Amino acid sequence: MSEESTLILVKPDGVKSGHIGDVITRLENRRYTITALKVIQATPELLQAHYAQLVDKPFYPGIEAFMMETPMVAIVATGVDVINSFRKMVGPTKPEDAMPGTIRGDFGRAWGTQPIKNVVHSSDSPESAAREIKIWFPEL
Ligand code: TYD
Repeated sequence: MSEESTLILVKPDGVKSGHIGDVITRLENRRYTITALKVIQATPELLQAHYAQLVDKPFYPGIEAFMMETPMVAIVATGVDVINSFRKMVGPTKPEDAMPGTIRGDFGRAWGTQPIKNVVHSSDSPESAAREIKIWFPEL
Protein backbone atom coordinates (compact mmCIF):
# COMPACT_ATOMS: atom_id res chain seq x y z
CA MET A 1 0.00 0.00 0.00
CA SER A 2 1.28 3.42 -0.87
CA GLU A 3 0.51 7.08 -0.31
CA GLU A 4 -2.47 8.23 -2.38
CA SER A 5 -5.06 11.02 -2.48
CA THR A 6 -8.85 11.06 -2.56
CA LEU A 7 -11.44 13.70 -3.44
CA ILE A 8 -14.08 14.43 -0.81
CA LEU A 9 -17.07 16.75 -1.19
CA VAL A 10 -19.19 17.86 1.76
CA LYS A 11 -22.53 17.99 -0.07
CA PRO A 12 -25.17 20.72 0.47
CA ASP A 13 -27.07 18.61 3.06
CA GLY A 14 -23.83 18.21 5.04
CA VAL A 15 -23.10 21.94 4.77
CA LYS A 16 -26.64 22.96 5.78
CA SER A 17 -26.70 20.65 8.78
CA GLY A 18 -23.34 21.93 10.04
CA HIS A 19 -21.15 18.88 9.48
CA ILE A 20 -18.19 20.40 7.61
CA GLY A 21 -16.19 20.32 10.83
CA ASP A 22 -17.18 16.75 11.64
CA VAL A 23 -15.89 15.52 8.27
CA ILE A 24 -12.60 17.38 8.74
CA THR A 25 -12.29 16.10 12.33
CA ARG A 26 -12.70 12.50 11.17
CA LEU A 27 -9.88 12.98 8.65
CA GLU A 28 -7.69 14.54 11.34
CA ASN A 29 -8.54 11.82 13.87
CA ARG A 30 -7.06 9.30 11.44
CA ARG A 31 -4.08 11.58 10.80
CA TYR A 32 -4.72 11.95 7.08
CA THR A 33 -3.16 15.01 5.52
CA ILE A 34 -5.53 17.65 4.15
CA THR A 35 -3.63 18.55 0.99
CA ALA A 36 -6.20 21.01 -0.40
CA LEU A 37 -9.51 22.44 0.77
CA LYS A 38 -11.90 25.04 -0.61
CA VAL A 39 -15.50 26.23 -0.67
CA ILE A 40 -16.87 25.93 -4.19
CA GLN A 41 -20.22 26.50 -5.86
CA ALA A 42 -20.87 23.60 -8.25
CA THR A 43 -22.01 24.29 -11.82
CA PRO A 44 -23.80 21.98 -14.28
CA GLU A 45 -20.49 21.62 -16.16
CA LEU A 46 -18.54 20.53 -13.07
CA LEU A 47 -21.27 18.11 -12.01
CA GLN A 48 -21.71 16.57 -15.47
CA ALA A 49 -17.96 15.89 -15.50
CA HIS A 50 -17.96 14.58 -11.93
CA TYR A 51 -20.98 12.29 -12.41
CA ALA A 52 -20.19 11.36 -16.05
CA GLN A 53 -21.39 7.78 -15.43
CA LEU A 54 -24.77 9.00 -14.11
CA VAL A 55 -25.72 11.83 -16.51
CA ASP A 56 -28.00 9.57 -18.56
CA LYS A 57 -29.92 8.24 -15.52
CA PRO A 58 -33.47 9.52 -14.94
CA PHE A 59 -32.51 10.73 -11.46
CA TYR A 60 -29.50 12.78 -12.67
CA PRO A 61 -31.33 16.17 -12.97
CA GLY A 62 -32.32 15.86 -9.31
CA ILE A 63 -28.71 15.19 -8.31
CA GLU A 64 -27.56 18.24 -10.25
CA ALA A 65 -30.14 20.52 -8.61
CA PHE A 66 -29.35 19.15 -5.13
CA MET A 67 -25.58 19.53 -5.53
CA MET A 68 -26.03 23.22 -6.44
CA GLU A 69 -28.29 24.09 -3.46
CA THR A 70 -25.38 25.64 -1.51
CA PRO A 71 -21.63 25.93 -2.04
CA MET A 72 -19.85 22.70 -1.09
CA VAL A 73 -16.54 22.03 0.64
CA ALA A 74 -14.06 20.18 -1.58
CA ILE A 75 -11.14 18.41 0.09
CA VAL A 76 -8.14 16.47 -1.14
CA ALA A 77 -7.00 14.09 1.62
CA THR A 78 -3.76 12.15 1.40
CA GLY A 79 -2.40 9.07 3.16
CA VAL A 80 -1.74 5.35 2.79
CA ASP A 81 -4.94 3.57 1.64
CA VAL A 82 -7.01 6.75 2.14
CA ILE A 83 -9.33 5.97 -0.80
CA ASN A 84 -10.68 2.66 0.55
CA SER A 85 -10.33 3.60 4.21
CA PHE A 86 -12.30 6.81 3.81
CA ARG A 87 -15.01 5.03 1.76
CA LYS A 88 -15.44 2.71 4.77
CA MET A 89 -15.65 5.74 7.06
CA VAL A 90 -18.33 7.23 4.74
CA GLY A 91 -20.53 4.10 4.49
CA PRO A 92 -22.81 2.89 1.69
CA THR A 93 -24.77 5.15 -0.68
CA LYS A 94 -28.09 4.96 1.20
CA PRO A 95 -27.78 6.48 4.69
CA GLU A 96 -30.38 4.02 5.98
CA ASP A 97 -27.95 1.21 5.07
CA ALA A 98 -24.98 2.96 6.69
CA MET A 99 -23.89 1.76 10.14
CA PRO A 100 -23.75 4.18 13.06
CA GLY A 101 -20.12 5.31 13.31
CA THR A 102 -19.93 6.05 9.59
CA ILE A 103 -20.40 9.59 8.32
CA ARG A 104 -23.58 8.72 6.41
CA GLY A 105 -24.80 6.56 9.32
CA ASP A 106 -24.24 9.32 11.89
CA PHE A 107 -25.25 12.44 9.94
CA GLY A 108 -27.62 11.14 7.24
CA ARG A 109 -30.93 9.33 7.06
CA ALA A 110 -33.61 8.37 4.53
CA TRP A 111 -35.87 11.25 3.50
CA GLY A 112 -38.11 9.24 1.17
CA THR A 113 -37.25 11.47 -1.79
CA GLN A 114 -34.85 11.44 -4.72
CA PRO A 115 -32.04 12.26 -5.04
CA ILE A 116 -30.42 10.45 -2.14
CA LYS A 117 -28.95 13.02 0.25
CA ASN A 118 -25.94 11.39 1.84
CA VAL A 119 -23.76 14.15 3.32
CA VAL A 120 -20.49 13.46 1.48
CA HIS A 121 -18.91 12.19 -1.70
CA SER A 122 -15.63 10.30 -1.71
CA SER A 123 -13.70 8.79 -4.64
CA ASP A 124 -14.15 5.04 -5.13
CA SER A 125 -10.84 4.13 -6.85
CA PRO A 126 -7.42 5.59 -7.71
CA GLU A 127 -8.66 6.26 -11.26
CA SER A 128 -11.76 8.11 -10.00
CA ALA A 129 -9.69 10.06 -7.49
CA ALA A 130 -7.24 11.29 -10.14
CA ARG A 131 -10.10 12.25 -12.46
CA GLU A 132 -12.16 13.98 -9.75
CA ILE A 133 -9.23 15.90 -8.25
CA LYS A 134 -8.59 17.39 -11.72
CA ILE A 135 -12.25 18.46 -11.98
CA TRP A 136 -12.49 20.23 -8.60
CA PHE A 137 -8.84 21.34 -8.24
CA PRO A 138 -7.58 22.05 -11.78
CA GLU A 139 -4.98 24.37 -10.21
CA LEU A 140 -3.19 21.49 -8.46
P1 TYD B 1 -22.92 6.38 -6.65
O1 TYD B 1 -21.62 6.74 -7.29
O2 TYD B 1 -23.60 5.13 -7.08
O3 TYD B 1 -22.79 6.32 -5.04
P2 TYD B 1 -21.64 6.79 -4.00
O4 TYD B 1 -21.82 8.27 -3.78
O5 TYD B 1 -21.95 6.01 -2.72
O6 TYD B 1 -20.30 6.43 -4.57
O7 TYD B 1 -23.97 7.57 -6.89
C1 TYD B 1 -23.56 8.91 -6.81
C2 TYD B 1 -24.62 9.70 -6.07
O8 TYD B 1 -25.81 9.74 -6.83
C3 TYD B 1 -25.02 9.11 -4.73
O9 TYD B 1 -24.15 9.49 -3.69
C4 TYD B 1 -26.41 9.66 -4.55
C5 TYD B 1 -26.93 9.81 -5.95
N1 TYD B 1 -27.88 8.73 -6.30
C6 TYD B 1 -29.25 8.98 -6.21
O10 TYD B 1 -29.65 10.09 -5.85
N2 TYD B 1 -30.13 8.00 -6.52
C7 TYD B 1 -29.72 6.75 -6.90
O11 TYD B 1 -30.59 5.89 -7.17
C8 TYD B 1 -28.30 6.49 -6.99
C9 TYD B 1 -27.79 5.14 -7.40
C10 TYD B 1 -27.42 7.52 -6.68
